Amino acid sequence: MKKNPIACVILAAGKGVRMKSDAPKVLHCVGGKPMLVHPLMRARELGPERIVVVLGKGADEVRAILGKGVKTVIQEKQLGTGHAVMCARSALKGFRGTALILYGDTPLLATESLRAMLKAHNKAGVPLTILTARFTWPNRLGRVIRGENGRVLRVIEAADASKEEMEIEEVNAGIYAAQSDFLFKALDRVKADNAQGEYYLTDVIEIAAKGGGVAAFTAPDPEEVLGINDRVELAQAERAMNNRTLLRLMRDGVTVIAPEATIVNDGVRVGAETIIYPGAVIEGGAIIGKRCLIGPGAFIRDSQVGDDVEIRAHSVMEGSKVGDRSTVGPSAHLRPESVIGADCRIGNFVETKKVTIGNGTKASHLTYLGDAEIGRNVNIGCGTITCNYDGTAKHKTIIEDDVFVGSDTQLVAPVRVGKGAYIGSGSTITRDVPAGALSVARARQRDMPGWGERMRKKAEAAGKKKK
Ligand code: UD1
Ligand code: CA
Repeated sequence: MKKNPIACVILAAGKGVRMKSDAPKVLHCVGGKPMLVHPLMRARELGPERIVVVLGKGADEVRAILGKGVKTVIQEKQLGTGHAVMCARSALKGFRGTALILYGDTPLLATESLRAMLKAHNKAGVPLTILTARFTWPNRLGRVIRGENGRVLRVIEAADASKEEMEIEEVNAGIYAAQSDFLFKALDRVKADNAQGEYYLTDVIEIAAKGGGVAAFTAPDPEEVLGINDRVELAQAERAMNNRTLLRLMRDGVTVIAPEATIVNDGVRVGAETIIYPGAVIEGGAIIGKRCLIGPGAFIRDSQVGDDVEIRAHSVMEGSKVGDRSTVGPSAHLRPESVIGADCRIGNFVETKKVTIGNGTKASHLTYLGDAEIGRNVNIGCGTITCNYDGTAKHKTIIEDDVFVGSDTQLVAPVRVGKGAYIGSGSTITRDVPAGALSVARARQRDMPGWGERMRKKAEAAGKKKK
């Protein structure tokens, strides 16, 4: 057993009324992930013996995002933060050590702050350590009341505070490290005799102060303790998290031309010397290589981009891959399962879906490639369409290496174009094309000499008659 075992309790049962949402509050996303995932990741990083999440509204929906190794308990009625922790008692049966209490709606908290708080807690040897922050602007958080020598005496809720108490700048972040034995014994003594008629977890602070003492650790940045109660705070948290991510990228050698106009989710990785233009949005688990150019208005989600790639203006990439030195766009659309090789060119108004494209292949303009396997060094002419859907089922197009597909070709799948074949422009290919062949599948041209001139004269004559 570890010397100082930790169990994390994440409170996430609150109703979240002010979100005005049908979905549980903790499922609203910050930085591209449900907000609850952030404290959950912090908890995991601390290597606890147990993680317990207290759930209320929409418990099943929330459970679905928790992943393995998380216990959940239900708080049927939201009778306050103290009551929520009491609900976790059964899930912590047999655990003795430090209970770390986190909130599901406080996504900006840094692991380093939690580590520093736990260190302070162990050093102080007190039953309870609280995380505080200093806010110089108005807020509705609980105020930390300190006595002589700066000893923490208690926390007074905004709803119960006097005017003078509201002037106090040190607030309770709602994050606690507590000796588990102390915590549950103290909670047994908490009553709901306050302005809100709730069981306040903060009451254990006073109980500890009168017993073994309370330590306080102040978060280095008050922004970390920002709790989300409504969509205004949701936007604040989003902005704060985005700024953090962009700072991390910039420090790692990424140029972000206009950070205020760039959105990059927290899990995204970007290589050094890459330049991101304004309006780019990079979401989910996207991985971008070195020396890339991400153009203005590009949208990239859950995709992998190699080194020296250009994703030009207004291109959209979802669940796809692009190899080194390729260029995409402007205004290209790589839909899920598009796997583009190295040194490729996917040009403007090209849409791809469920396709593999070999190295050195080019589709430069106005093309749809779906449900296809395309080899190396293939040239896909402007206006090529893989006709993959017959109204009921999807069919596959295979284009082998070194093929030249003339402009305005339709490939009616299932169909295979053999290695090194040529397809004449304007062809509708409905049968396999043998390797090395030239296939032309279009109506032959017919010329009618003098037809235009005769037509024009007729029209002129008709016009004169009318007058
Ligand atoms: C609480 C603290 C306050 C602190 C603030 C920091 C108390 C009494 N007050 O206030 O001192 O400044 O957090 O944000 O603890 N929750 C439940 N079940 C409940 C009630 C709440 O699970 O019955 C959960 C919520 O989902 C949320 C967290 O606990 O994640 C905090 O609840 P909230 O109602 O926002 O606490 P506050 O009253 O704002
Ligand atoms: Ca709150």
